[in-house]
Order: sequence, then structure tokens, then C-alpha cells
Amino acid sequence: MDRPTIIAGNWKHNPDRNLGESLWREVAAGTMSRIPAGEHNPPVKVVIFPPTPWLGWLVSREGLECLGNGFPESAVLEIGMQEISDRPVGAYTGEVGAELAHQFGARWTLVGHSERRIHFGETDEDVARRLTAAVDHGLCPLLCIGETSEERDAGRTFEVVSHQLEVGLSRFDKKHEYAIAYEPVWAIGTGRTATVEQVEDVHQHLRELLQKKIGSASDGIPILYGGSVKPDNARDLLGLDVVDGALVGGASLKAASFLEILDAGIATA
Ligand code: PGA
Repeated sequence: MDRPTIIAGNWKHNPDRNLGESLWREVAAGTMSRIPAGEHNPPVKVVIFPPTPWLGWLVSREGLECLGNGFPESAVLEIGMQEISDRPVGAYTGEVGAELAHQFGARWTLVGHSERRIHFGETDEDVARRLTAAVDHGLCPLLCIGETSEERDAGRTFEVVSHQLEVGLSRFDKKHEYAIAYEPVWAIGTGRTATVEQVEDVHQHLRELLQKKIGSASDGIPILYGGSVKPDNARDLLGLDVVDGALVGGASLKAASFLEILDAGIATA
């Protein structure tokens, strides 16, 4: 399997000015001490998705000092946007698009997170446009998909995630680099984690779908699990062959718990 394990931290609309700096210092130091920076194509990498003002700070001189010599060439630790605009640079007050984000150090962007879909009305079509905008400007999108509890109870999980995947990737060319995160909506921020069997089922289904869609190019596309990943369940989830990493929300706000999840990723890679 030639895809890395990705342990991603989604800080959401946190942390405040006091907490962010120490969180970053500890996560950066903990990552660098666990994964040798000189290694190219490391088997495990960390991606942090901070709120946009923090993204600017992480690549400031002060933020980079936490890493010693700046972001290592080997891409052990990368940062990304939680959301990008699908608009180009120009007169779009309030927007931040992929082009600027990339120039300021972002390598990734989340697209289609359920909190964007639910609270801000983002549709699959919006998601498809943002994916294209991301890759057009060199960002690697992490496409988030997942069913609600009503959809699961109605037996529609496969139908829903297949549709989100199909439409999300509809404007896409298979040569682009991207990753998928399966995040059942009912497991996000609720403390309810999907069982190992539920995760295995959906990931297996998504892997087959990608294989049908783009053939062997799909082998390089990581499929992460997200939804109440914690130190005490990380090893079981990451130990599944079909799980290539974790997208961690709440537990990424404490360096110790995030690093324990990273340890589980390293142990099972
Ligand atoms: P959670 O969030 O780990 O707090 O459930 C995951 C996510 O929203 O990506």
C-alpha cells in the first residue's frame, strides 16, 4: 500500500489566543520527535487545520521557530485551511481562496465538512466547486462525507456516501491528489464513535467505489475516519487495513491526546 497514514487535527473555531501557541508548540515538538524530519515520503504524517488567523501565525517567524527550521521538506507536518472560497482573487469581501492560502503556507484544505453542510448550507455542488478551486491552486483537498443518524437508521448509509463522493469528485480529473474522510455526522463531537465493523464496512465500500471510478490511481488515495476519535479508540480504528488515518476534532485540542492518537497511527502504520 503506497499511501501514508495521515493523522489530522481539525481545530475548528478554537483555540483562543492564549491556548493556540502552546498547543502548536507541543504538537510540533511531539510530531518532530516521533517522525524523523529528514525522511521523504514518511509512512505517517500530521496535518493541522487551524482557524485562518492561526494559519497565518503558524507560518510567521514565531510559529516556524517552534519547528526549529521551518516546515521540513519531508512534509512530516503540514497545515491546511478548514474551508476555502471557490472564488478567485478579487473583489469578494470576506473570502479566502486557495491561491492566497497556498501562498501563506497551506498545503491542504478540508472540503465538505458536515458542519459546513449543516450550519452554512453547503451543497454537494458547492463542494465540487471548492475541490476544483483547491487543486487548481495546488492545495490537496480532504473531502469529508458521511451520513446522518436518520439516514443510517433508514439503511441509506452507502447510498448517501456514494452520492457525496460521486458529486464531490464530479469535476475532478483522476490525476489530482486528494484524500477522503468518512465522518458519520452522528459521531462528530458527540462522543459516539462508529463501531469498528461500521467503519470497516463503509471504508471497504468507498475503497471499491474509488477503484471502480479511477482504477489503480485509487490506490494512492488515503481514506481517513473521523468522528470522536480519542486515544482510547484510536488503536482499534487505525488498526483496520481499510483505515488510512484519522481526522480528529475535540481530541486535537489537547496536545497529549492528539499525540497519543499519533502514536496509535505510528504503531499501526
Ligand atoms: P470530533 O470531530 O473528533 O470532535 O468528533 C471530528 C471532525 O469534525 O472532523
